Amino acid sequence: MRTIDWVDDAVEIVDQTALPGETRILRLSTVDELVEAVRRLAVRGAPAIGVAGAFGVALAARQFAGDGDGLAAAVDRVRTARPTAVNLARCVQRVADRLPGGPDAALEEALRIRDEEIDSAERMARLGADLVTSLCGERPRLLTHCNSGALATVTGGTALAVAFELHRRGALAGMVASETRPLLQGARLTAWELGRAGIPYRVAVDGAGPFLMARGEVDAVILGADRICANGDVVNKVGTYAHALGARAAGIPFLVVAPESTVDLDTPSGDAVDIEDRGAAEVMSFQGVASVPEGADAVNPAFDVTPHSLVTAIVTDRRVIRLDEGEALGRYEPVGRRVGP
Ligand code: MRU
Repeated sequence: MRTIDWVDDAVEIVDQTALPGETRILRLSTVDELVEAVRRLAVRGAPAIGVAGAFGVALAARQFAGDGDGLAAAVDRVRTARPTAVNLARCVQRVADRLPGGPDAALEEALRIRDEEIDSAERMARLGADLVTSLCGERPRLLTHCNSGALATVTGGTALAVAFELHRRGALAGMVASETRPLLQGARLTAWELGRAGIPYRVAVDGAGPFLMARGEVDAVILGADRICANGDVVNKVGTYAHALGARAAGIPFLVVAPESTVDLDTPSGDAVDIEDRGAAEVMSFQGVASVPEGADAVNPAFDVTPHSLVTAIVTDRRVIRLDEGEALGRYEPVGRRVGP
């Protein structure tokens, strides 16, 4: 199953707000429909919103053919639908650069981006599984946060793709999925994906992770990223930083798995990243029922920054960067040469 695809001149997505109760396919035929789907997290996860952005520009090219101003404004709406994951702006730019060639050239580039994400998931799975086995031995117990599976990409996933690969190899004991308040990407989506894959798992409240690590019930933390900065700082779903602190205190590896399309060498550190604030309302109710007293306020950063000093290794679709051994991110060169950062 593909989370997102181009089908008969429109974008089709699995509506992630309906899971796990219902597998509903949404057809998005206009730029406004696509932007709204990204904003309300019907499609979410850094690589998936990158592909959504690419398709959004392809849609705009058709919708606003011959209307330069309308097209520029539409591309901008897609680019800014969410601010934190670098994949969105980057993929939008790649397709926007092809707009002078017309709608077909734009669509061609968007489809290329989709295919690249599919390929990179397979490579991350293999590299990540090898690394986990080398660090943790046979059949480790892993903890993950948020959702980094097929739903967050196109197929496969990033960190969760590593878990799927380990399971295929018979080299995974089981997973803890932290529930990921307030929108429950872990409880709703990761649990759904792990169950479908036949991987034994338990859902834990977000605050339980560091204690489970301290009690020796977790051998490594593995999760995705929305942006990896030039110094190795990792921007990911809020709660990631607390899990990194827990992993450091427990002396277990903290592993980040993300495609090269999430590595942003133009952003020097996490301090420079625009962290999406999703507003108080999401925090102040649970499944539609108010969970705070009247008059309460809330703060709702959707992401946090884990300093590079807490990261054991970053696995991309091309390489493993051992930050714990002093390796720097640098620029990936197809010939395998590292330059910079
Ligand atoms: O707000 P979301 O659900 O889009 O946030 C997603 C995450 O933080 C994921 O952990 C991240 O994108 C990695 S997914 C491959």
